[in-house]
Amino acid sequence: TPRRPLVAGNWKMNGLLASLAEIAAMGGVYDAPLRARLELVVCPPATLIGMAVDIATQASIGLGGQDCHTAPAGAHTGDISAEMLKDIGAAYVIVGHSERRAGHGETDALVQEKAAAALRAGLTPIICVGETRAERDAGDALTVVGAQIAGSLPADAPGSIVVAYEPVWAIGTGLTPTVADVAQMHAFARERVEARLGGGKSASVRILYGGSVKPSNARDLLSVANVDGALVGGASLAAKDFMAIADAY
Ligand code: G3H
Repeated sequence: TPRRPLVAGNWKMNGLLASLAEIAAMGGVYDAPLRARLELVVCPPATLIGMAVDIATQASIGLGGQDCHTAPAGAHTGDISAEMLKDIGAAYVIVGHSERRAGHGETDALVQEKAAAALRAGLTPIICVGETRAERDAGDALTVVGAQIAGSLPADAPGSIVVAYEPVWAIGTGLTPTVADVAQMHAFARERVEARLGGGKSASVRILYGGSVKPSNARDLLSVANVDGALVGGASLAAKDFMAIADAY
């Protein structure tokens, strides 16, 4: 595969100053052979990104935000723009995470605008999609994810965007889809990304799997065709677990 695997950690609303030591510890394990195999990114809370830049740069670990506003600046109290994330040293930003879709009413249209804003600012958006348990049980998983891809990816996005498939019912639950279901969804997702972007661009889009990725299941999940890496939540908080996942490649 021409795609460089990406293992990204999403710290969500976790992390105080003391947590910077975990990024330093990750750097201690992210040696030249591992760097040659995969790209490593941590998305700490925005409060820590600026503080983490020196440590992360030293360790060749990339940094990302967890959300951004659609506008570059303005009267949007409490929001953070893609420009601000870029300015402080981030290279990535997660958009459309299911926790934002569910907790902040984010629609596909808004997620698409955020992804476009990220690209304008020079960030790579990690665009999240995924079905709920009810949707999977109803047999609608592919339809739902297909619609999210069509609605959440900017039509003119370059092949450098990242898509993360995260079944909502697998997030933080310890549950994961079967390897066969992951294979089916990722192959389908690549088709849908191609339908959206065209021109063969989907071949360079990394499609990550997310949802209860742990050291114990990483090798199985990450060896599936069309799985180009992982978006890791809980297990990315401690360097030991996160690096064990990375080492599964
Ligand atoms: O963005 C990360 C996902 O929501 C996965 O979270 O690894 O804690 O299940 P988790």
